[in-house]
Amino acid sequence: MTAPILRRLEDLRGMQKAWMRAGETVGVVPTMGALHAGHLSLVEAAKAASDRVIVTIFVNPRQFNNAEDLVNYPRTELDDAEKLAPFGVDAIYVPDPDQIYPEGYATNVSVAGFTDVMEGEHRPGHFDGVATVVAKLFLQTGADQAFFGQKDYQQLMVVRRMARDLDIPIEVTGCPTVREPSGLAMSSRNLRLSPDGLARAARLYPLLQSIAARLAGGEVFHTLIGPVRDQLAAAGFTDIEYLDLRCEKRLEQLETPIRPARLFVAAWMDGIRLIDNIEVPALTG
Ligand code: PAJ
Repeated sequence: MTAPILRRLEDLRGMQKAWMRAGETVGVVPTMGALHAGHLSLVEAAKAASDRVIVTIFVNPRQFNNAEDLVNYPRTELDDAEKLAPFGVDAIYVPDPDQIYPEGYATNVSVAGFTDVMEGEHRPGHFDGVATVVAKLFLQTGADQAFFGQKDYQQLMVVRRMARDLDIPIEVTGCPTVREPSGLAMSSRNLRLSPDGLARAARLYPLLQSIAARLAGGEVFHTLIGPVRDQLAAAGFTDIEYLDLRCEKRLEQLETPIRPARLFVAAWMDGIRLIDNIEVPALTG
């Protein structure tokens, strides 16, 4: 059954109030559409955890620091609704732009600290846009639970911090990254890669895995990074914006995984910016 598509906040609120009165819990999965199996895994997690599930689709102009990227972002609403049909979600909220940013909108939500590095450093303003729209989506949906992908691990940390700091009563769950059979992390941006670019981009994940294995064997990060950058360049990545080992709680840089850590990368292939991260278990003993 296709879920109703709601475009106005008052319609969403009407539905949400009825669910609240019935004592039902609400889960939300915020997205920008162009849905793939990664998004759908979040929908599945939400369905398992909440009585009612709202999927939001809004291509948020405030989080794009590149006008061309915003214009080229895929918009596939009908396909998205079809993909959601088998999951039995209760509402698809596709707000008209003025429902999020009405005339005269003047408020910004900005999270300090976590946003200084990686995506925050390379995409100025990006996390303000994310924190602002997600705060609004949390408040508009009144959801009890929200589901985000670890694919955008730093975003997950920013959103958790924001909800905690603003006392928004919502539990934020992080879900594992869904990958193509090749290992490439699923992303709406992959749609813009050529077949050759897709094949070359797939070299990223095995490289990350090999670094993680060598770190687990006791090697020190800075001794690995040079050769890995060379291998990425040989695979056709044109610009490696960052390749960092960071602790997974506070995102501080590490040389060895003395605490649970993650490897983070952002690099360009075929003019498309790709990001990924994988877990690096803490060294024991
Ligand atoms: P979008 O890129 O559409 O992603 C929506 C959600 O899907 C995010 O939580 C993201 O981490 C998750 N996701 C994307 N690819 C995934 C994959 N391969 N495996 C698992 N989860 C994956 O992230 C955004 O939109 C926006 O910034 C948003 C939070 C909606 C705010 O505008």
